[in-house]
Amino acid sequence: MATHKEQSIETKTQYQVPFGTVSITPEARTLIDKALETKFVTRGKYVAEFEQLFARLFKRKYAIAVSSGTDADALSLATLYDYGARRGDEIIVPALSFVATGNAVFQAGFNPVFVDVKRETLNIDVDKIEVAITQRTRAIMPVHLMGKPADMDRIMAIAEKHKLYVIEDAAEAHGAEYKGRLIGTLGHMAAFSLYAAHIVTSIEGGMVITDDKQMAEAVRSLRNHGIVNKFEFRRIGFSAKMNEIEAAVGIGNIRIFEEILNTRRRNLLYLIERFRKFDEYFISVKEDEGEKIGPHAFSIILREGLNFTKDEIVADLDRQGIDSRNLFYSMPTQCPSYAFLGHTLGDFPEAEYCADQGFHIGIHQDIGLAQLDYVAEGVEAFLKSKGLSA
Ligand SMILES: Cc1ncc(COP(=O)(O)O)c(C=O)c1O
Repeated sequence: MATHKEQSIETKTQYQVPFGTVSITPEARTLIDKALETKFVTRGKYVAEFEQLFARLFKRKYAIAVSSGTDADALSLATLYDYGARRGDEIIVPALSFVATGNAVFQAGFNPVFVDVKRETLNIDVDKIEVAITQRTRAIMPVHLMGKPADMDRIMAIAEKHKLYVIEDAAEAHGAEYKGRLIGTLGHMAAFSLYAAHIVTSIEGGMVITDDKQMAEAVRSLRNHGIVNKFEFRRIGFSAKMNEIEAAVGIGNIRIFEEILNTRRRNLLYLIERFRKFDEYFISVKEDEGEKIGPHAFSIILREGLNFTKDEIVADLDRQGIDSRNLFYSMPTQCPSYAFLGHTLGDFPEAEYCADQGFHIGIHQDIGLAQLDYVAEGVEAFLKSKGLSA
């Protein structure tokens, strides 16, 4: 298994093309100061305002702020206990994702059932979902990895046929669209991460959105220990509240959402164009007809049979000042903590291939076109050093 740096944005200053960034606006600073002055720092009016702005932006009736994207996943899932789910029931998730997706299923008290992905899209292979459904399946949790929409029409049709809930893990897909509809509005609920690397961020945080009032109330209860009335607790809850300081950063960020999204999309489309000539060497993210990617990062997967390894190109780019991260892992076969599930290497060949041969680099709002040219030139120089032309 390839070793790679942990997910972190701490390395920013060392790199010409850093992986992540965070935008903290002057408005956010003012709101943070106000919250500190008034000593209203736990959940209060800024959290409520942030939720309203988020719900409006993502076109859902309800948005509930929580303390992380992982909690957003776990709490959305835990609402299913209100709808007849039992501990140990099954949730279908793609094998390839940031490990939080699988962890959240366990944290909610369910068991993840993994389905392989497609290396071209990085998303769940819909053709393999139905064979994974059992009597105990309660929901499908598709992940829109790298902001690229999963095939939601087909996923919703399967869910309807088998009476399953669909909870979108939209952690990385802020502003993405599928056939003209916003990602996060297609399933019964959707979970976003607001961690610093994402388009809308509160530094740490998460958001659940839904049109279903009862589900929204369940999430509100679950984030606060299962509370229903003043000091009456009816669910096995979490402590997953967002605070006013985080909400202040989030409010500031949401005001510049379009700007951030547009810059990231400009960067994505530019790099897609620049990578066209490397097509015989890499499978890199592409935007297909009918979709709009909400760019998280730019994925690059080595094709088979090359005369260089991923570690070589990653090390070379790193030396040139281009930061990167591994393209996650096949959770059931490459994450040691999941070994107890009994899967063996080779069970999820596509996810394993993406993880072994893939990495991703930043295309965020603080990266300019000159830096993307630098990336393309850096890749070309590396290929030349291997006697390859582009
Ligand atoms: C696909 C996916 N799901 C869940 C999460 C968890 O989010 P957080 O780090 O905010 O807990 C992430 C993190 O970015 C993610 O990429």
